[in-house]
Amino acid sequence: MVQSMRSIVGRTAPVRFRYIFLLATVFGGSFLILIINNSTDIFSFKNDVSSTWYSSHRYELFDSGASFTIKTEGCTIPGLHPFDESIRKFIEQPKHLKSCSRDNASLLKSNETHIWISSEKVNLPTDANISCCYKSFYRPLSINDISSTDVDDRVKYEECIYFSDYVEVANEFVKVSCIDHDKTIYEQFFLFAPKKPFMSYKDDSVEAPINQSGYNVIVMGIDAISRLNFYRTMPRTLAYLKKKGAIELFGYNKVGDNTFPNLTPMLLGIKDTDLKRTCWPNTRATFDNCPFIWDWFKEVGYYTALGEDSASLGTFNFEKMGFSGTPTDYYIHTFMHEAELQVGNNKDFNSFICMGNKYFFQVLLDYIQDLTRTLKSSKLFGFFWEVTMSHDYLNYPVIMDNSYEKFLKYLDDTKYLEETVLILLSDHGIRWGDIRFTKQGRLEERLPLVHILLPTSFRENYSLAYSNLKLNSRRLTTPFDLYATLSDLVNLDTIKNEKIRYRSSLYYAQKNSISLFLPIPSNRTCQIAAIDDHWCTCHVGKKISIKSTEALEAAAFLVKRLNIMVRPYTQCEPLLLAELLEITEMEVGTPGENEVGWREFMVTIRTVPGGGMFEATLRHDSSGWSLAGTVSRLNLYGDQSRCVHDYQLKLYCYCR
Ligand SMILES: *[C@@H]1O[C@H](CO)[C@@H](O)[C@H](O)[C@H]1NC(C)=O
Ligand SMILES: *[C@@H]1O[C@H](CO)[C@@H](O)[C@H](O)[C@H]1NC(C)=O
Ligand SMILES: *[C@@H]1O[C@H](CO)[C@@H](O)[C@H](O)[C@H]1NC(C)=O
Ligand SMILES: *[C@@H]1O[C@H](CO)[C@@H](O)[C@H](O)[C@H]1NC(C)=O
Ligand SMILES: *[C@@H]1O[C@H](CO)[C@@H](O)[C@H](O)[C@H]1NC(C)=O
Ligand SMILES: *[C@@H]1O[C@H](CO)[C@@H](O)[C@H](O)[C@H]1NC(C)=O
Repeated sequence: MVQSMRSIVGRTAPVRFRYIFLLATVFGGSFLILIINNSTDIFSFKNDVSSTWYSSHRYELFDSGASFTIKTEGCTIPGLHPFDESIRKFIEQPKHLKSCSRDNASLLKSNETHIWISSEKVNLPTDANISCCYKSFYRPLSINDISSTDVDDRVKYEECIYFSDYVEVANEFVKVSCIDHDKTIYEQFFLFAPKKPFMSYKDDSVEAPINQSGYNVIVMGIDAISRLNFYRTMPRTLAYLKKKGAIELFGYNKVGDNTFPNLTPMLLGIKDTDLKRTCWPNTRATFDNCPFIWDWFKEVGYYTALGEDSASLGTFNFEKMGFSGTPTDYYIHTFMHEAELQVGNNKDFNSFICMGNKYFFQVLLDYIQDLTRTLKSSKLFGFFWEVTMSHDYLNYPVIMDNSYEKFLKYLDDTKYLEETVLILLSDHGIRWGDIRFTKQGRLEERLPLVHILLPTSFRENYSLAYSNLKLNSRRLTTPFDLYATLSDLVNLDTIKNEKIRYRSSLYYAQKNSISLFLPIPSNRTCQIAAIDDHWCTCHVGKKISIKSTEALEAAAFLVKRLNIMVRPYTQCEPLLLAELLEITEMEVGTPGENEVGWREFMVTIRTVPGGGMFEATLRHDSSGWSLAGTVSRLNLYGDQSRCVHDYQLKLYCYCR
């Protein structure tokens, strides 16, 4: 796979030109909003290319102190720049992406209630006599062979209903084929979100009362996109989230390689390897016995939905058996499977990207939108997963940016966001391609995006839970924590201020699944959080010789930096290196062979005059040395620095 990716990541256009082109076209005007709203979250552009871009967009350059992604007692994740030198050459417009088959572009149109023939823009012969067959299909309750490998794909089609102008829609899943003089000229699938009677979880035949308290919970995944690739490829969506006050988890670390081991902890609260003991004895078993988070919502009166934009790559279907029963009230696997099979096209690497003339990701987005409209007066827990566009290529998510922004805007305009907790996230970053041969790419793969958008009433009514979530935005977090967080949303009583106060007083520091509405301990380590060393993005120090070249260069650089800081204060003596006390390389996991990227070192030195001991983290990359964060002073400065009053300078100045 890596091989084929390599040939796909083109290298023809000059890097710099492509880069500027991408920024200009992709970023549009969205960063201004970002900067106004949440300046501390924004990375800084220090180098020439990005400052060209910045000045042409009239934004101010600033340093957000992004030397570290998170820095806590238990875990420091190095600072990552979305346009780091080492990965810039991989960022480009997705020029290899083909558009969906346009042949039969728009013969049929639809709205919530009707499908009709619209011959505009379609080249029909003048003697055309078109009639269409409306065929609904569904997932039958009865199962012929429970052990069959395609039990989740079972389907039944109804008889044709012919129409030659329009037809009223009365079903969830519909296939329409149109015929002109016995020749099929058009085929398309339509997905609807009709209101269904609310069935109780316990007894399928009883209609249960709908629970009106609680917020809708919508979890939307975008497969294989790192926190920073989201910055690069979907800036408009990002800007919209930031504008609405979404909270970003900077220290969200994946816990397994691909989708399944990262979603299992989120949806079931356990490791995928523990499923064997609980509800999924072997890979030939279905997932029907697993207690998914949506079941808890169902019990308290929510409608539930599970929707993915691919059937073949479905989380529970890819080399797995899926479900034999129907896991949620709304379950579109049946639809996606038929659509993929019959009108799926534009297969690119792993996925069918298009359903007829429409992107599959758009089919899913439109469906979620329809569901929110249908269930406006009920409660919905929905788990949705996009995979077709983002799974295989670093830059393809660019295509989705406008659609996701528009989707969010719709939920906002219809006030749905006022009663909904929306979580936009991913399972991991891109796992292959040339970017994976860089250190940045390796770390990004382990750091997927998570943005949590809470309604205003939530922020007011559950103010402690909300402020804890903000705190946790810079703590080490995992999919296990999302499970605990979602569990809290089942019963909001558990996150009232007095409850949060009480729960915070209990001892939970060793747990690997902690609700994000409680303070995550700052001393949390990967080990405590159940993140295997292989996936851990926290620094681990490894002492190196103080006689090494790196050591000498680093110490000299640090002294130089100290002197640059004190130089404007003529009352301070210049400092000289007296001794290099210690140098530790701050490693993050095990680098790949010949991996491209920076190295970080923590250096401790003593300077004269004054004998000040200083500690700093320094980064070395192709452009040389730089300082990551501030320089700490390890011993007291006493009255050595009486002649300056700046608190930072007091640490460094030795008065003449
Ligand atoms: C959908 O289209 C039909 C037929 O054009 C029309 O009668 C109906 O009002 C439309 N419904 C909505 C909700 O727009
Ligand atoms: C169009 O086709 C229908 C049957 O599909 C037929 O009954 C009708 O006569 C045809 N009309 C013309 C003008 O050919
Ligand atoms: C339109 O779609 C049908 C069914 O998928 C296909 O057989 C036909 O070739 C398409 N029409 C054109 C003009 O390509
Ligand atoms: C939440 O806040 C809204 C107003 O912001 C208020 O009307 C409502 O009663 C509160 N609900 C709870 C459960 O405190
Ligand atoms: C409704 O939901 C709330 C929490 O959102 C829960 O406390 C309550 O027990 C539920 N009521 C019923 C009847 O399930
Ligand atoms: C980590 O912090 C928690 C409090 O947040 C404390 O109870 C616990 O003992 C600490 N653990 C270690 C290993 O320091």
